[in-house]
Amino acid sequence: MSQQMRTTGPIAVFGATGRQGGAVVDALLDRQAPVRALVRDPQSDRAQALAARGVDLAAVRTDDPASMAAALTEVEAFSFMTPEANSLDEVETEIRIGTALVDAAVAARVPHVVFNSVFGADQESGVPHHDSKHTIEERLRACGLRATMVRSAPFMEEMAPKLEHGEIVLRVPMPEDVALKMVSVRDVGRVAAALLLGTAEAPGGAVELVGDELTGPQIAAAFGAHAGLPARYEALPLSVLPSELDREMFRQFATMGEVPSDLAVARAIEPATLDLAGWIRATGWTVPANGTGS
Ligand SMILES: NC(=O)c1ccc[n+]([C@@H]2O[C@H](COP(=O)([O-])OP(=O)(O)OC[C@H]3O[C@@H](n4cnc5c(N)ncnc54)[C@H](OP(=O)(O)O)[C@@H]3O)[C@@H](O)[C@H]2O)c1
Repeated sequence: MSQQMRTTGPIAVFGATGRQGGAVVDALLDRQAPVRALVRDPQSDRAQALAARGVDLAAVRTDDPASMAAALTEVEAFSFMTPEANSLDEVETEIRIGTALVDAAVAARVPHVVFNSVFGADQESGVPHHDSKHTIEERLRACGLRATMVRSAPFMEEMAPKLEHGEIVLRVPMPEDVALKMVSVRDVGRVAAALLLGTAEAPGGAVELVGDELTGPQIAAAFGAHAGLPARYEALPLSVLPSELDREMFRQFATMGEVPSDLAVARAIEPATLDLAGWIRATGWTVPANGTGS
């Protein structure tokens, strides 16, 4: 559904060629807001696809303040995420990129900055690629700009059930009695867009974004119900994960059931926030012919 455009300058989006930033752009364009995508390579296929939809492209290097200053000139608001980190070196890079983005926003006096962070990043958790976001949040909070954190639970898009002998099988390294919080990337974009456009506010300057909260067997059952097939869940050991960072993250997920989440928070901003069953329907998820679903 479109809403009246309320901005005067463009909304700058860093990460627009990726999943979260792409969803932010989708939601902003749905609302007829002008968008400026900050990209490393304006000639890339993904950047050109954005340009074809009317998105203004600005070439940036986060280690080049002049490029950032030009890209953030007279923007109404700025949305950013930080790239995935799979090693401690990449965590350092993530913090460096996030810090540079905050500093550039300060230099350009951006009226409102929305950071796509991660669930629980209001505190340190011991998960390196979540604590990096906590560090960036702290810098953003202290910088003096109006800032809002969108702290997303794990994405529903990460679920990859398989079809095995006529049965849907979901395997995740999580105990079967722990509820996993989750949200769709689409709704991360919609919530961020509402905050960027000022059609919604986040009390306290942060939103803990959860669209659903289900145990492994319940997740498997949701896919099975959609497929009309029996379904089962298999809890894997953490040792299947090659990255220590991910092992630490899943250790934390196993305790996340104790952390309260409020499913009404996302729906107060985006009433159509999807639960898992809704996401399965909305994405047209189909039973995988062989292997994982799509
Ligand atoms: N997966 C989950 O369940 C989940 C949940 C919550 C939070 N997160 C967090 O979400 C973040 C990833 O978001 P995403 O999935 O939207 O990312 P993504 O799809 O991999 O997109 C990465 C974006 O960052 C841009 N970018 C700029 N500089 C980069 C660099 N040096 N290295 C890599 N990319 C760079 C890329 O643009 P160009 O290449 O065009 O320049 C691209 O638009 C991670 O920080 C992750 O921790 C993930």
